[in-house]
Amino acid sequence: MKRRKFIQNATLTGAGVAVGAHVISCTTEKKEKTKIAVVPEFPKVIATWNVPNATETAWKVLEKGGSSLDAIEQGCRIEEADERNQSVGKGGRPDRDGNVTLDACIMDKNGNYGAVVCMQHIKHPISVARKVMEDTPHVLLAGKGAEKFAIESGFQPEDLLTEASRKEWEKWRETSNYAPVINIENHDTIGMLAIDKNGDIAGGCTTSGLAYKMAGRVGDSPIVGSGLFIDNEIGGATATGMGEEVLKTVGSFLIVELMRQGRSPQEACEEGIKRIVSKGNFDNFQVAYVAMNKSGETGSYSIHSGFSATINHNGINNNKESMSFNK
Ligand code: GLY
Repeated sequence: MKRRKFIQNATLTGAGVAVGAHVISCTTEKKEKTKIAVVPEFPKVIATWNVPNATETAWKVLEKGGSSLDAIEQGCRIEEADERNQSVGKGGRPDRDGNVTLDACIMDKNGNYGAVVCMQHIKHPISVARKVMEDTPHVLLAGKGAEKFAIESGFQPEDLLTEASRKEWEKWRETSNYAPVINIENHDTIGMLAIDKNGDIAGGCTTSGLAYKMAGRVGDSPIVGSGLFIDNEIGGATATGMGEEVLKTVGSFLIVELMRQGRSPQEACEEGIKRIVSKGNFDNFQVAYVAMNKSGETGSYSIHSGFSATINHNGINNNKESMSFNK
């Protein structure tokens, strides 16, 4: 096969689970200019933070030939069920009134979107978000309506405030001083992107939001274009950290559009963060993005150091601290 033809094919065809990440550069026959082609590397999954159980679960779905959408739902459910993760699902830190309110959204390869915001008593908002997407004419359900829909759909209501989170909240109430700690309260939202064996991309984002937030506060995570955006022709992006800042810059949509214009996932994440830091004082909050393009290439970047992303490719988890603006 002629070299150029091989490279063309490689950019169009999933190379299976064994292909590593690499870039091939070549010269056209007329020697006009150098062209770069990226060898696809999928299936693959990337998630915010150190969540090896979640990415491994998602990988197992992909490995069996499952869809990126199923991988996302199954992967996110792991963190939602893990009571030690105090930023997602059961065990999440409550709002200042002591109520655990959850936000989540999911997007599929066709650009369909479903979300729940400020939902109480249901451990798996990512699955309720998927039901909103698949079983209703709407895209977003809030509060009591989301909970009612979840219960009618078969989800069991339960108390999501664990003993550990309740004790911390009671301690916080002694002063009610809101002073977020970077990389803890600012914060451990799980955003996940997956590309399956067909090269189709889906994503999800799930969170209990900022600890001790005002009642009714909703951040970026369940909002399409901010906490998550997928365009299956281009790629996807998702966010963690101070949701207000992500919302103001529509961060995930921005990153996907930058990739559409030719930026790599890494370059696009860096530009997304620059849009936030260019606005002024960012000392007291963290934001981080992860992104993936149609070839399965990934990128991640944060404002402050201490953020890491977990990638699972070929069944191997790789958790690495991302580069950051403020080293
Ligand atoms: N990024 C999650 C939140 O701000 O609620």
